Amino acid sequence: MAPYHVLMVHFPIALWMTATLAILYRSFSDSPLAKSVDHALVPLLSISLIFGITAFSIGLMVWPWETISASALGRNHVLTASWTLAYWAIILFVRWRRGEAVWNGMTRWITAGLALLGSALLGITGTLGGHLVGIYTEVSVALRLLGWDVYTTYYVPNMTLAALVVTVVLLLAIGFSSRSKPQ
Ligand code: HEM
Repeated sequence: MAPYHVLMVHFPIALWMTATLAILYRSFSDSPLAKSVDHALVPLLSISLIFGITAFSIGLMVWPWETISASALGRNHVLTASWTLAYWAIILFVRWRRGEAVWNGMTRWITAGLALLGSALLGITGTLGGHLVGIYTEVSVALRLLGWDVYTTYYVPNMTLAALVVTVVLLLAIGFSSRSKPQ
């Protein structure tokens, strides 16, 4: 199943990257074009999720579970793939349920931040997948600076935990400050 996984992963990667660009464009612009792009967001995110689930399911069939979970690289690829999938599903749910309200006031910057975080997760998943097939990128060098060696780090390193805590605190602060201001 490896060739099918490699083939299929290109679709969610390209579609979620496009969705990130669309979200950033809408966050920075209220032009008619940006609004039209935003109207395509729910269908775009839905198609991305369908392809993501397909790539994920095929991924589960590439190597036996004992094999993929035995190394830090394999285990973390599956872990970040699960986070990526769940994360983008939540972005789709929020945009669908909250509608255009996600572009009101500070919320638009939270949406932009969430999209950037989602594409970072996607990039890390792809990077780990690349290392599984022997294709190296500079992203792993950046991860090493955060204390995450793609070949040996089995558990989330302290620096990454610290970055997560800072991000959560920042997002909460932005959320509370926007709640106290009238839209
Ligand atoms: C949305 C989810 C996923 C994405 C975006 C993704 C992405 C990738 C990428 C970019 C590659 C490298 C392909 C290449 O350039 O040749 C790869 C390889 C690989 N992935 Fe995933 N992956 C996902 C989910 C999974 C899951 C859930 C598993 C297993 C449980 C998995 C197992 C593998 C394996 C075993 C390889 C190496 C394939 C080979 O030996 O040719 N992937 N993945």
